[in-house]
Amino acid sequence: MTFLVLHGPNLNLLGSREPEVYGHETLEDINRQLTDLGRELGVNLVFFQSNHEGALIDRIHAARTEGIAGMVINPGGLTHTSVALRDAIAAVAIPTVEVHLSNVHAREEFRRHSYVAPVVLGQIAGLGAFGYQLAVRGLLARLK
Ligand code: DQA
Repeated sequence: MTFLVLHGPNLNLLGSREPEVYGHETLEDINRQLTDLGRELGVNLVFFQSNHEGALIDRIHAARTEGIAGMVINPGGLTHTSVALRDAIAAVAIPTVEVHLSNVHAREEFRRHSYVAPVVLGQIAGLGAFGYQLAVRGLLARLK
């Protein structure tokens, strides 16, 4: 089984970007941890990061024809702005878990609303990089 892990805008800067909010781990660290977890669970993980909304949407469309069984997505700031990203997730109908490193509900008001939340299985926020691991485990449990 293959899961696609999508990272949205600015997440390529993890490690140096507001570490007090997002932690010290880099995106590579997070992806490496997930690859290890995938090996343990027997799940193949593929990763994609982009700072561009359209590139993320194209990647989600491609997932449909690649037999991707599930997706984990941290849409970054697009969470709070992108109807198009939400529509792409709904269109491919691949079970998806939304992840945020920070607790978006305990920050600025504008971060409380997610366009993506209504079309995903669930949302994990505030647990840092560990949230991605929970998302992979949750997806697997749901799909088994
Ligand atoms: C984020 C939260 C978003 O509000 C923010 O725009 C991000 C990262 C998180 O992982 O906590 O870029 O998705």
